[in-house]
Amino acid sequence: MNNLSLVEKIMKLKEKRKAVILVHNYQRPEVQDIADYLGDSLELSRKAAQTDAKVIVFCGVHFMAETAAILSPDKTVLMPDINAGCPMADMVNAEKVKELKRKHPEAAVVSYVNTTAEVKTESDVCCTSANATEVVKSVKSREIIFLPDKYLGHYVSCRTGKNLILVNGYCPVHLKILAQDIKSKKEKYPGAEVLVHPECIPEVIALADKTLSTSGMCKYAKDSKVKEMIIGTEVGIIYRLQKENPDKKFYPASEIAICPNMKLNNLEKVLWALEDMKFEVKVEKETRIKAKKAIDKMLQFSRIN
Ligand code: 13P
Ligand code: SF4
Repeated sequence: MNNLSLVEKIMKLKEKRKAVILVHNYQRPEVQDIADYLGDSLELSRKAAQTDAKVIVFCGVHFMAETAAILSPDKTVLMPDINAGCPMADMVNAEKVKELKRKHPEAAVVSYVNTTAEVKTESDVCCTSANATEVVKSVKSREIIFLPDKYLGHYVSCRTGKNLILVNGYCPVHLKILAQDIKSKKEKYPGAEVLVHPECIPEVIALADKTLSTSGMCKYAKDSKVKEMIIGTEVGIIYRLQKENPDKKFYPASEIAICPNMKLNNLEKVLWALEDMKFEVKVEKETRIKAKKAIDKMLQFSRIN
């Protein structure tokens, strides 16, 4: 089946099911093109909390769909491919958080939204790459456990001047972007600005003009007078940047920064998800209620900031 007829079928079925399609900025171009909402983790969790749709088809990775299921328990949340996980989210489990809390009983726990629901139940507040600095700034406790991303944690610690208790988590995709990649792209495109994601290593962040979430990059790219940008994050975002800014040029800092999990979703799987109403992501009630507190705190926080 060609993409056009696939898209037609998806659109018809989407109407019938009263579904909304939420798509992360790293998804394949053809999946980005069918999005009702395309965005970063923060924007997509806001949309998941607000939509009146009966069904949410989440084209992203598992923790994102799980967050939607926590925020919208009356809706059916579907993932086109249930195997689309986030390796970073699996680097910390609830046991590890409990152990850290035993060691640091006075500490507040700030969890990156890239965590499982179980980890969120042990957390005081969540954050995303778009609001991590502000969330940490707002936490009153003298001690703060920040997890799982040690590089985002390091970045936030530098920005806030707060000493954070970190764990050994990281994004294997952003780890592929090296300082040398930025240096050689800067030599090749001397007029270009460098935008990087805060999951990058400190040596890469040190060479950047701006450190931003994925949607932060999209907004910045639109507003900037500069015509060329080197992009230090997963390469899927280049499609959106180029589509929204046809008069500008975007170069990936590293062509190998590809998240294989994000790429598991495709148009066929979106269609099957709507046809068969699978794969449903559900969170058991007790876990959901506890995890929701930490997410709600983040959402309330970013509404007033
Ligand atoms: P954003 O929230 O910036 O889109 O990041 C999500 C993610 O998984 C980055 O690797
Ligand atoms: Fe997880 Fe990294 Fe993929 Fe984002 S890019 S979903 S953090 S593995």
